[in-house]
Amino acid sequence: MISPPILERLSVLGDETRTRLLALLERSEFTVSELCSVLQVPQPTVSRHLKMLAAEGWVESRAEGRKRHYRLSPSLDDAARSLWRIVRDEIGGNGVYLTDAERARAVLEHRRLRSTEFFAETAEGWDEMRADLFGSATGLAPLLGLLDPRWIVGDLGAGTAALAVRLAPFVRRVVAVDRSAEMLSAARARTADRDNVELRKGDLERLPIDDGELDLAILALVLHYVVDPPAVLSEVRRVLGPSGRIIVLDMRRHERGPGFTDAMGHVWPGFETGRMEAWLADAGFESSRVVPLPPDPDASGPLLFLASGTL
Ligand SMILES: C[S@@+](CC[C@H](N)C(=O)[O-])C[C@H]1O[C@@H](n2cnc3c(N)ncnc32)[C@H](O)[C@@H]1O
Repeated sequence: MISPPILERLSVLGDETRTRLLALLERSEFTVSELCSVLQVPQPTVSRHLKMLAAEGWVESRAEGRKRHYRLSPSLDDAARSLWRIVRDEIGGNGVYLTDAERARAVLEHRRLRSTEFFAETAEGWDEMRADLFGSATGLAPLLGLLDPRWIVGDLGAGTAALAVRLAPFVRRVVAVDRSAEMLSAARARTADRDNVELRKGDLERLPIDDGELDLAILALVLHYVVDPPAVLSEVRRVLGPSGRIIVLDMRRHERGPGFTDAMGHVWPGFETGRMEAWLADAGFESSRVVPLPPDPDASGPLLFLASGTL
């Protein structure tokens, strides 16, 4: 007769060493030698129980150098998880588990000290190491979590849709507008696997967007290409719904001369922050602010500002 899985689960849980292991591995990853020192049990015993827990799908391990790190399996099924919760709640306050938890804290404290030591030595080179390991765009990535998942966001003057694809996982839909067929074709290739990015060909002066369709409009590095920015800002206002927001990323006024401006096809040599503030206010945006961004050591172009406002 085949035993129902739940009974197999119960038989695994009917051993104190194994439940002590699970209680530890639920909170953190541990190596075999760490588990031995916490449980004060010989290594062959710990290894034998870990082997059984792994065979029954309760724990998983990963190799790091010559060490193997164990943890509670993240893919434990619901029945096993509820069973474990019942057992854990019953045994959690018992002496041996409390002692285990205290010893485990000492092991983890040792790890914490290692990371503190690492950062004490790395502080000066950390920015470079961070960019090296995770890329320079990671710095502000946490802010994407501030986006409201119900929003429809316009990426106006979207270019190759680099920003649109970064925004897409965090909002309902991104409407990416650009007038250049070539840019849109690059954007199409980039967004092929995104079903919530919609590309529309059109001008900022007459946006192919309905009245009040957007919750947020972003104009990133496009306003200096526009002949009449105040007219574009009021057009943006038209397509924003109540409490809609605008964000403008652009160049601060610079003195690079026509060599730079003409080569890039710019209409404006950037904007004074005061002028930008006045334009936003005239277009009806409230609580607007224009904040100069700090120079990026890797960038060779003019300095930037970030402006924002709400209807
Ligand atoms: C410098 S790119 C910036 C692209 C993108 N926002 C980014 O940050 O990478 C400016 C884009 O705006 C588009 N553009 C310029 N003026 C426009 C206008 N009046 N209407 C629509 N698109 C415009 C250009 O075709 C170009 O793709």
